[in-house]
Amino acid sequence: MKKIGIFAGSLRKASFNKSIARYVKKQSSDTFNYEIIEIGDLPLYNQDYDDEGPAPVAYEKFRAAVKATDGVLFITPEYNRSVPAVLKNALDVGSRPYGQNVWAGKPGGIISSSPGNISGFGANHHLRQSLVFLDVLTLQQPEAYLAHIADSINKDGELHDPKVEAFLSDFLKAYEAWVLKLSE
Ligand SMILES: Cc1cc2nc3c(=O)[nH]c(=O)nc-3n(C[C@H](O)[C@H](O)[C@H](O)COP(=O)(O)O)c2cc1C
Repeated sequence: MKKIGIFAGSLRKASFNKSIARYVKKQSSDTFNYEIIEIGDLPLYNQDYDDEGPAPVAYEKFRAAVKATDGVLFITPEYNRSVPAVLKNALDVGSRPYGQNVWAGKPGGIISSSPGNISGFGANHHLRQSLVFLDVLTLQQPEAYLAHIADSINKDGELHDPKVEAFLSDFLKAYEAWVLKLSE
């Protein structure tokens, strides 16, 4: 059983990305278990916490949760053509103390979305830039950009769009194959 941590880059109650995250969680199987790891309770990263201690309990819990995964999947909107601060903060928290980066070596995946038509491309690629340094082994193909996402979420806040569901199914198949390949 492979345990995959999902990180949603939005705190909004009615977040489209949280809807996608819940949908992916539901795709868990006997072999892949997708769990959402919360990032909204992490205090803004301040290196003094790690240098002088004690680090916030939320940091310790988060770092342990990421460490326990076999892979990390980011599902994010774009804020001002980049990664939402809440997600960047989570990356930073997991990357420290220096030398104890919990992201290192994890097979990664990225799904970006937007109600607009650029699909979070800027966030997707800025995220890739950080993941290179964090030594996350990010799936290259297929890329996952979901445009006009509001049209794919029903009034109950659930993903309901056969085309997007089929696309995500192919994406998750490729991601799972990537995770298995890296664990050989
Ligand atoms: C601060 C802020 C910046 C945004 N910048 C962008 C942007 O650069 N590109 C884009 O496509 N949408 C942008 N949006 C719109 C978001 O894509 C939209 O609010 C989306 O619903 C956020 O994802 P969520 O539904 O998961 O919360 C921005 C929204 C906010 C609040």
